[in-house]
Amino acid sequence: MDKIVVRGGRSLRGTIEAAGSKNAALPILTAAILAPGEYRFTHVPLLRDVTTMARLLETLGATFHQDGHVLHLDTSRVEAGEAPYDLVKTMRASVYVLGPLLARFGTARVSLPGGCAWGPRPIDLHIKGMTALGAEITLEEGYVVARAEKLTGADIDLEIASVGATGNILMAAVAAHGITRIRNAAREPEIPALAEFLVAMGARIEGAGTSEITIEGGAPLKPAPCRIIPDRIEVGTYLIAGAMTAGDVTLTGCRTDHVGALLVRLKQLGARIEADDTTIRVVGPERLDSFELRTDFYPGFPTDLQAQMMALAAVANGRSVLTDTVYTDRFTHVAELQRLGADIQMERNVAVINGAKRLSGARVMATDLRASAALILAGLVADGETHVSRVYHIDRGYERIEERLTALGADVRREAEPGP
Ligand code: UD1
Repeated sequence: MDKIVVRGGRSLRGTIEAAGSKNAALPILTAAILAPGEYRFTHVPLLRDVTTMARLLETLGATFHQDGHVLHLDTSRVEAGEAPYDLVKTMRASVYVLGPLLARFGTARVSLPGGCAWGPRPIDLHIKGMTALGAEITLEEGYVVARAEKLTGADIDLEIASVGATGNILMAAVAAHGITRIRNAAREPEIPALAEFLVAMGARIEGAGTSEITIEGGAPLKPAPCRIIPDRIEVGTYLIAGAMTAGDVTLTGCRTDHVGALLVRLKQLGARIEADDTTIRVVGPERLDSFELRTDFYPGFPTDLQAQMMALAAVANGRSVLTDTVYTDRFTHVAELQRLGADIQMERNVAVINGAKRLSGARVMATDLRASAALILAGLVADGETHVSRVYHIDRGYERIEERLTALGADVRREAEPGP
């Protein structure tokens, strides 16, 4: 198993290009189940989660090969099948096959995800959505089994604006007879990205990106090409790294409108931001100000940047208060940041962080994807070396993070770690 070793103390400087979005790519790949044929996806990030999704599609009968950032997928021979527990437990986004399998074959079998490092990850809203479209759902041996002779459009009010449920319902609704309206739909950019791909395949969808999406189901679908949108969370992570190391970092190939909440915040904390539609430059001051921040659904501040902001707060000037309202248990990084000397007190989903001038390097353990990013960022501002083990988490969602940080002048390397 690999670990990442960071020697702190350098300001990041330089320019890198944004990679494709993991969270946009995953549902888009499963949407290819809806119409058998050959697909060519471009700007696909080279990530473990993308490979896991392609392998899941392979178990359903698809073939794929990835050539750099181009992924060729052939779904001609996909058959009704299941998303097995072994895959779903490593990547909850596997549940995205539920809607497309049900739509195409009238049946789907998907393992329940169970809990994860940051608490329960329910899929009740996905199930309610499929039920509203006419599916019969049973739970069998840990699996959600959905069956429907025919799907019929429906009005679906989501209690929570869930990204996953919105995407799954959207993919099932394009094959349903009649009109589906999703109210309180997620507005995260990955939803309009998915809708755009479905429209290119022939689907009739309006309102994606707003909280009410209307789908007129039943249009014939065929394969379409697709370029994956830039990863707003990756972009945000490198901008935070630039700002907190008093650096000067430029990201190209971005969708600047997708990171608005972060840019506003970094400016408030004293960073200088220069941006046009696709390029963002951040220049960090000697020390950033402390802050009060709550995560929220898009266009609010993303929960996927909460851990990285906590690393920033650990070296900001004063006392910060950081609340996660979207995933209220997502704080496994706190104990690891404390090992680096961060002064953090937790009460339920609220973290109070007293910023120090420097952290001190230590051995820490990555507990999930964004937590690992936070630990690496903290390592950049720690004295000495920080060893982040279990980096398979980071490879799920950040393409070659050590190479990209090195390109920005950081002292970061990957090392093989001997097993226990
Ligand atoms: C997606 C992202 C994840 C991000 C999250 C929130 C992907 C692959 N993952 O996850 O990185 O952190 O959005 O922006 O895109 N909920 C329910 N019932 C459900 C579904 C969700 O109660 O059936 C709750 C969740 O517990 C959570 C909230 O809704 O509190 C938001 O979750 P959701 O938007 O569904 O997150 P994911 O799609 O799983």
